[in-house]
Amino acid sequence: MARLTALLLPLLLLLAGCSGRQSALGPGGADAQVLAVLFFVMLGGAVVLWLFMNGLFYWATRRSPSAHSEKGSFLLIVIGGILFPTVVLAALLSYGLAILPDQRAPGDGLTVAVRGEQWWWRVEYWPEGAEAPIRTANEIRLPVGARTEFRLDSHRVIHSFWVPALGGKMDMFPGRETRMSLEPVRPGLYRGQCAEFCGESHAWMAFEVEAMEPAAFDAWLAHEASDARPPEGAEAQRGAALFAAQGCGACHAVRGTEAVGQVGPDLTHVGSRHSLGAGRLGMAQEDLMRWIRDPAAFKPGAEMPAYDHLSEAQLSDLATYLRGLQ
Ligand code: CUA
Repeated sequence: MARLTALLLPLLLLLAGCSGRQSALGPGGADAQVLAVLFFVMLGGAVVLWLFMNGLFYWATRRSPSAHSEKGSFLLIVIGGILFPTVVLAALLSYGLAILPDQRAPGDGLTVAVRGEQWWWRVEYWPEGAEAPIRTANEIRLPVGARTEFRLDSHRVIHSFWVPALGGKMDMFPGRETRMSLEPVRPGLYRGQCAEFCGESHAWMAFEVEAMEPAAFDAWLAHEASDARPPEGAEAQRGAALFAAQGCGACHAVRGTEAVGQVGPDLTHVGSRHSLGAGRLGMAQEDLMRWIRDPAAFKPGAEMPAYDHLSEAQLSDLATYLRGLQ
């Protein structure tokens, strides 16, 4: 019994990894659903083959050598060793090729351009017929029940765009555009992760994907297109003044203000995002203060310089201003 428990425990732990917001086996998207089915069918096929071959091995080695006739051995090799695996593997391959989702299926109108940066994501929404994009960063929201097309590329090195719970992944290259599309079927918060080693902070290059009901998504996108709200309250106003005085606007844009930098992430509605630093920290006051004080402490190699010359009160003012950018 103890041996059985010892055997089953790792299996249970393994199965615990099958759900969650970054699991390909807890699908929230149309493509991911197909891929999850494919995974279990392949697993089933592999188990059948494994059991059959082990059974055959057991049977063959338990018989006395004299019981093996030449013809019997020949048939065993041809049927058990060649024919059976070929048929099962060919069936699995045909099934897989037949149901594999078309990663480049055309979208239903909305296009999202994502560029891999060191180590964050530049995001642009292009609604159908739009002449200018709606810029944001490190978070993607998508309407449920519609296919959104992604245009992907990269600034410097190869990254890879992957939201396991929604669909397959696609590499992002500098100077070359790749395309894919995703169709969420279940509202929820999913996690995306860069899936190609891209330097020292590769592991910290994540993002959130929120799948929303279409009406909520439309309202969100309209808000995302709007300018930033002016700071409310003395602390946020001091933070806004400090943001300008420290030259933050040379790298970051806050639409509706004089900050128009395009080097770093757009911060127009940064306070409404689910995470900070491409999934690195939360959005609490303390998270923003820690990040501004020394980004490289959380993301080695990050291009944003440390602002550790600022006082705690100044960092708090800045954090209040940024959190207010809803
Ligand atoms: Cu970007 Cu790994």
